[in-house]
Amino acid sequence: MEIRTLKAGERGQVLDLLDCWELPDGWRGRDFFRRYMEQDPSFRDENFWVAEERERLVCCVQIFPRAVRVGTGAVPMGGIGSVFTHPDARSSGTASAVLRRAEEAMRERGMSLGMLFTGRVGFYERLGWRAWPLANALYIRQSDSPPPEPDLELGPLDAGADLEAAKRIHAHYSAQRMGSVVRDDAGWEGNLRVSGNPDEDFRVARRDGVVVGYARFIALENHPILAEFGRGAADADALASLLAAAFAERGGAYGPAPADPELEQALAARGIEVRGMSDPNAMLRCLDAKALCAASGVDPIPGENDGDLLRRVLPPERSLFWPSDRF
Ligand SMILES: CC(C)(COP(=O)(O)OP(=O)(O)OC[C@H]1O[C@@H](n2cnc3c(N)ncnc32)[C@H](O)[C@@H]1OP(=O)(O)O)[C@@H](O)C(=O)NCCC(=O)NCCS
Repeated sequence: MEIRTLKAGERGQVLDLLDCWELPDGWRGRDFFRRYMEQDPSFRDENFWVAEERERLVCCVQIFPRAVRVGTGAVPMGGIGSVFTHPDARSSGTASAVLRRAEEAMRERGMSLGMLFTGRVGFYERLGWRAWPLANALYIRQSDSPPPEPDLELGPLDAGADLEAAKRIHAHYSAQRMGSVVRDDAGWEGNLRVSGNPDEDFRVARRDGVVVGYARFIALENHPILAEFGRGAADADALASLLAAAFAERGGAYGPAPADPELEQALAARGIEVRGMSDPNAMLRCLDAKALCAASGVDPIPGENDGDLLRRVLPPERSLFWPSDRF
């Protein structure tokens, strides 16, 4: 068996392999994973690690490069996704070996952190990954909300007129929260193209024509997911009104719960309960403690193990990873 990166001209073969994956929401594997290849400008063949056996691709693991806020820095992180072994080739250590090789490649490329989302926590724990129970919540509509403030306009994003303001809000609101992905314009472009399932509902709140808050929703197996939101510093009420209006259509949603007491208070005043939960699927791995400390401006503590370092710099209950950035 040979473990290597994808060769030019093999994209069709790896999509044939991924097409064997039974996915929810009516997706064919090849169509779901093709989006990451064709629509994400950051896609590179060198980010796909594969195992070849008797001239056939039997396993793949994809690295999704991201930069996440840790300490005072933007730390290079490798998201791990598209992990799949052909059913005929399972339980002989193939995915474990390909993942290890991908981790080495991430380290070589200066990625000091790895992150993934999985329903198979035990499999990855045996390979050195740690469960990272990020703070999530069920947002539940308990009663009718008062109508939004009269000077507030709620509606869908007008990409031409609103997107730059939404980007500025994201940069400010998310910057205060550890773990969130730093997006440049290319990052936004890829994010907007692949975050839906297949589409997303991107809403904004405008005051005097200016965007003061936004929220993005997707559906997973018919469940409404709050994939991202943000607000101006003085606009907790505006965001709460936007969310309450969206929850009125959906009954509520599931999503991250960044520490934002003003927002929670404004939601409570609109009849929305925020019931705290933790994400059972998120996992993290420290790939290079020294590089992580250097990139985040955090002082290393002699003798500190990787788990303690991760807990110190990215405490899961106070870290944020928007579902819109997932892979
Ligand atoms: C999850 C998945 C990628 C694992 O692929 P794989 O190549 O079978 O993985 P491995 O062989 O390295 O490990 C699988 C199991 O076999 C065991 N194993 C490894 N080598 C073995 C060997 N020589 N003999 C027997 N068992 C072995 C591993 O310990 C592991 O056990 P666990 O599932 O209890 O943790 C594969 O089952 C798959 O494609 N599933 C569907 C897609 C999916 O769920 N992807 C992951 C989502 S994040």
